[in-house]
Amino acid sequence: MRKKLAAGNWKMNGLKASLTEVEALIAAHPAPACEVLLCPPATLVSAMAALAAGRIAVGGQDCHPKASGAHTGDISAAMLKDAGASHVILGHSERRADHAETDALVCAKSEAALAEGLTAVICVGETEAERDAGATLAVVGRQLAGSVPAQATAATVVIAYEPVWAIGTGRTPTLEQIAEVHDFIRAELVGRFGAEGDGVRLLYGGSVKPANAAEIFAVSNVDGALVGGASLKAADFGAIVAAL
Ligand code: 13P
Repeated sequence: MRKKLAAGNWKMNGLKASLTEVEALIAAHPAPACEVLLCPPATLVSAMAALAAGRIAVGGQDCHPKASGAHTGDISAAMLKDAGASHVILGHSERRADHAETDALVCAKSEAALAEGLTAVICVGETEAERDAGATLAVVGRQLAGSVPAQATAATVVIAYEPVWAIGTGRTPTLEQIAEVHDFIRAELVGRFGAEGDGVRLLYGGSVKPANAAEIFAVSNVDGALVGGASLKAADFGAIVAAL
């Protein structure tokens, strides 16, 4: 049985004052049936982890492939772990686009995360032009093959399918489209990793909100969500946690 995971990605949002939302979330859902993860900006990882005290998991949004060194502005997996993180989002489409991250770089970052004992939440997903060209599965398959490291296990890697055109737009794929891609990802993982691939959690991400969470969670091979905007408010994210 794959344990369901509700993950929030705060992106470049949140100041110390925003931690009141985490307090409210934990107070409203003290014993959630699913695993709950919040990934704040790096500046808040330490404070959020201290506040959460293990009641929810805390993660970073990126890490450098190297353990340390002359890389101004970057953060290593060891630093995230030291700050209290247990997870790190890697290869988000915003980083692939804003920072020209390649599959090979995402794979190297994932290896660094695993080496430090962090769970890597590896993101894949097609652009609208790629979907319109009928290339969705080819793109997702290529990203999976290139971004997921050979040593991935069900315990150390989570895959998030986030169609780029659904992120922050209020548009979501049809449930059939989500099922098609998630079933494809499952088959690819089982093909490469065998039984271990069957245990890897697959999250859907892109305009998940309280109103559509339950129907998305009922889709085949959807083991949870990676939530952006709706993870910033305890009431919205709490409703998604409850739906899962
Ligand atoms: P939204 O939920 O704001 O569409 O963002 C999704 C996302 O990119 C999560 O990583």
